[in-house]
Amino acid sequence: QLVRNEHGRAFLDISHPRVKARIALQGAHITSCVPTGQGDLLWMSPENDARPDRPIRGGIPICWPYFGNERPGPSHGIARTSDWRLTGAVDTGDMIRLSLELPRGIIKHHLPDDDWQLQVEFELGSSLSIALRTTNSGGRAQVLSQALHSYLPVRDIHETRLWGLEGAEFFDQLTGVDHHRQQGPVTFSGEVDRIYHGHASAIQLDDSSQHYLVVTREGSESVVIWNPWTDKSQRLGQFPADGYKTMVCIEAANAGPDHRVLAPGESHTLVTQISRV
Ligand code: BG6
Repeated sequence: QLVRNEHGRAFLDISHPRVKARIALQGAHITSCVPTGQGDLLWMSPENDARPDRPIRGGIPICWPYFGNERPGPSHGIARTSDWRLTGAVDTGDMIRLSLELPRGIIKHHLPDDDWQLQVEFELGSSLSIALRTTNSGGRAQVLSQALHSYLPVRDIHETRLWGLEGAEFFDQLTGVDHHRQQGPVTFSGEVDRIYHGHASAIQLDDSSQHYLVVTREGSESVVIWNPWTDKSQRLGQFPADGYKTMVCIEAANAGPDHRVLAPGESHTLVTQISRV
């Protein structure tokens, strides 16, 4: 079902025996995913004003075709503020599968020198899976970096631990220093903005509540861990001053040295899955 909010922004509202979810056509941006009998798998800012030209804060922004400021242009690329088109919906009984694409005319409008096709597929059921498929439809090699910028809810950031990155190397985006090595689980007592490298297996988010959130990735050898903490929370758009206490981002990425060079005709798919166990 297509609904519009008070600002005219269009959402797909999904109501299925296994899951309720909401996806904004702007950005193909999932803002809520509630498997039956569970809480929301995603964190959403209460302060979104939903102006169509602004990125949505929370849920899963699609950062594409570059991560952060790896290219000139808007932070995290053009996909999250562009309008996508629904191209398919299948109900398998256990889940609902939705496909969207970013129209090529929109990509050309923003990036006249690039030739890409971009599609995303959501699988919504007892867990959430997103597969972002990029194809180089031009005649020369093109560079791609990207992230599925998942905002996840936590009970209390001070008591949150991320398991699965022990021993991994990371680049600290706050200091610009590379080759740190993670000792033990990731914990939070200040701003964290790091790109971890390597094939970390599943990352488990332990916030001392009954269940873990588990984030897995495919087609990704980098993962961004981000929490803005107190000062940056004040500066961020559409983010409450105490928002940092109840969220953390675990972003399946192809960022930094994990950027991809796609030959003409070549495709790359970045996948992340979020489940509660
Ligand atoms: C993270 C980056 O992925 O996104 C941070 O590592 C950045 O540096 C954050 O602050 C939020 O970015 P934005 O553009 O949504 O405010």
